[in-house]
Amino acid sequence: MKPTDTPKTYRVKSFGCQMNVYDGERMAELLEAKGITPAPEGEAADMVVLNTCHIREKATEKVYSDIGRLVKSGAEAGKEPLIAVAGCVAQAEGEEIMKRAPAVGMVVGPQAYHRLGDMLDRAVKGERSTDTDMPEDAKFAALPKRQKVSPTAFLTVQEGCDKFCTYCVVPYTRGAEISRPFSDLVDEAAKLVDAGAREITLLGQNVNAWSGEDAKGHAVGLDGLIRELAGLPDLQRIRYTTSHPNDVTDGLIAAHGEVDKLMPYLHLPVQSGSDRVLKAMNRSHTAESYLKLLERFRAARPDIALSGDFIVGFPGETEAEFAQTLDIVDAVGYAQAFSFKYSPRPGTPAASMPDHVAMEVMDERLQRLQAHLNRDQYAFNKASVGKTCDVLIERKGRKPGQWLGKSPWLQSVFFDSELQIGDTVRAELVHAGPSSLQGRLLEHAVA
Ligand code: 5AD
Ligand code: SF4
Repeated sequence: MKPTDTPKTYRVKSFGCQMNVYDGERMAELLEAKGITPAPEGEAADMVVLNTCHIREKATEKVYSDIGRLVKSGAEAGKEPLIAVAGCVAQAEGEEIMKRAPAVGMVVGPQAYHRLGDMLDRAVKGERSTDTDMPEDAKFAALPKRQKVSPTAFLTVQEGCDKFCTYCVVPYTRGAEISRPFSDLVDEAAKLVDAGAREITLLGQNVNAWSGEDAKGHAVGLDGLIRELAGLPDLQRIRYTTSHPNDVTDGLIAAHGEVDKLMPYLHLPVQSGSDRVLKAMNRSHTAESYLKLLERFRAARPDIALSGDFIVGFPGETEAEFAQTLDIVDAVGYAQAFSFKYSPRPGTPAASMPDHVAMEVMDERLQRLQAHLNRDQYAFNKASVGKTCDVLIERKGRKPGQWLGKSPWLQSVFFDSELQIGDTVRAELVHAGPSSLQGRLLEHAVA
């Protein structure tokens, strides 16, 4: 790699989960603290960060094709962009990327990206570097302070996963579970609110495993953190994702009934409705224990909207076992859900299990599952018509004069009235579509 000028413009492209979105925002802040500004829309950037996802499919191949495209579009614009590969593919394939893609100057894992600035200084001198350490030192403390945020902000409170579901790469790419300290989180949340956030989503691969010590030195779980954040006067909404059924506490369930700012929405993946498959997945819950747990959430907060993740075609999954997944879907009535075909991840136990399911079978099962999930999402939306609720306005819609916000149940709600990003409005939900609703403005209700 040749020495180069310090980049003037950057672009961060994040793929995958919301934690990557959060990491991408933090990397952007880090680059901005070095005086590098976002590349204008449609213009080639001097530096590009590919913040990658490794959870499913040919993520790695996608990284190589993205790199090729960047080199080509850079050349057309007369530049050689500095390319950094970050995220979970960087963690899993760091050395390989360096070998295969000479255009890449930096490879940085999700636990090391606070060192991106130093790596950039080296890249400017013509030195390539890889950092996929999982250091104990506080990544978050080393990052610059949050500056500008949208009305809905993410806050990573927990990282890593100790669950080792047999299909999943996360415990390998993101490492062991760590919880960020209570006081740091309260501090960062307060800053987000000062910077304009009205809703904060607490993020973690296994967010309900978060634990810490409050200001008095008492041990607290996620519900304790939620209760503390609910005390921030200008914060209107709190959400959290993603949870594991086995780490749900009584306190968290109770919080849904007691903390008004905690939104009536729960993303609780079940993955499969078959106990045999769940066991092979190392999920350590059953379909029945999952349903019982949901009943307790519903008892605490009857209008709670439920969301889940599903995998079809786990190795050995029979038609009868798949039918049990459809049964659990029908039993729950999800307001929203994410469903995937099983994808063997190198190094995970499931990848070497026998009886992999044929792609056509997985395609067909996914279609059937999604038909049930879409039906239920539409039914949930239709059942919301006539309700009055607060909607937090997030952005303009695609059509001129249209504005879009989210209901407490995380549904997209469109308005044809002139509104402002960050407004909270009181609205009647007047019309339901399969994945959004139309709202009628009743009043501005900035809480
Ligand atoms: N194949 C398919 N889906 C997967 N997920 C995680 N690993 C895999 C895999 N190997 C899904 C799970 C998880 C979501 C984030 O991604 O449903 O909850
Ligand atoms: Fe992966 Fe399972 Fe951990 Fe979720 S709980 S991140 S699916 S290992």
